[in-house]
Amino acid sequence: MSVSSLNGKVVLITGSGQGIGKATAEHFGKLGARICLNGRSAGKLKVVGDELRAMGVHVQEVAADVSDPQACEHLIAECIRHFGQLDVLVNNAGIASRGTIAETTPESWEQTMKINFNGAVNCTYYALPHLSESKGSVVLVSSMAAKVGVPGHAAYSASKMGLTAYARALQNEFKKEDLHCGLVFVGFTENETAKEILGPDGEYKSIPNRKGVKTASRESVAQAIARCVTQRKNQVTLTLMGKAQHILLKFAPGLVYFLLRRSFREYEETYR
Ligand SMILES: NC(=O)c1ccc[n+]([C@@H]2O[C@H](COP(=O)([O-])OP(=O)(O)OC[C@H]3O[C@@H](n4cnc5c(N)ncnc54)[C@H](OP(=O)(O)O)[C@@H]3O)[C@@H](O)[C@H]2O)c1
Repeated sequence: MSVSSLNGKVVLITGSGQGIGKATAEHFGKLGARICLNGRSAGKLKVVGDELRAMGVHVQEVAADVSDPQACEHLIAECIRHFGQLDVLVNNAGIASRGTIAETTPESWEQTMKINFNGAVNCTYYALPHLSESKGSVVLVSSMAAKVGVPGHAAYSASKMGLTAYARALQNEFKKEDLHCGLVFVGFTENETAKEILGPDGEYKSIPNRKGVKTASRESVAQAIARCVTQRKNQVTLTLMGKAQHILLKFAPGLVYFLLRRSFREYEETYR
């Protein structure tokens, strides 16, 4: 599929009121796709929707919490009611979370898993009949943290690692139906100032600035997501650091875990 073939396609991007999701909506919109925006805040969606309409994009906003299966059923039904079809589902909605295993409460674990893992599963479940019909694409926005258990971020790592198992099963179950599923392992990316992180106690706080880390632009992530769809790739690993981690995990996994333990010391200095 070429990039021009996205013209007129219907693309639903969860968590598109800000950040990578918003950049992805803008990018697909520029490529001629019709866009269904989603997030919990109707106010944020209205702002992004108006921006896209000003660019000439056909757009519909549907506020829904992806951790709630009923809300996801409503989200997909609204998308179909408005556009009559669904070609691409980008499961992007997600939260950052932190906490050591000893301090992270069951409630904080549940919150991370319900949004980052169940959120993608819920949306995909209700979208599958429509995506099978269109021979479309499901994209799962994952992270470098899905390839290792990151100390200080076990719940986040587990929620993203779970997406890998889900994607592999989906890729095999739907191979005959020609339905594409792509996993995008996103590396460190520039954050919106409004971005927050869930703490081990279940409280959200502003995310601290990353020190000494080169971050990718949100637009470059959006472009990679679009390429994953048009080239029907099973998986994509972003950023130089992400690619280096991928290779090192094959040939020198001990080094990766040594570096993770070192970054855990920095984590402890940041949060103690
Ligand atoms: N930034 C990075 O460095 C990085 C690295 C690797 C992977 N990622 C992944 O990329 C994705 C986007 O991250 P980001 O940095 O753009 O985060 P962000 O700026 O916090 O944006 C997340 C978006 O998801 C929405 N959202 C959160 N919970 C939701 C829910 N329960 N239901 C529906 N929407 C929900 C938020 O809107 P509302 O609050 O209005 O719902 C927001 O629009 C996430 O899956 C993240 O794990 C990011």
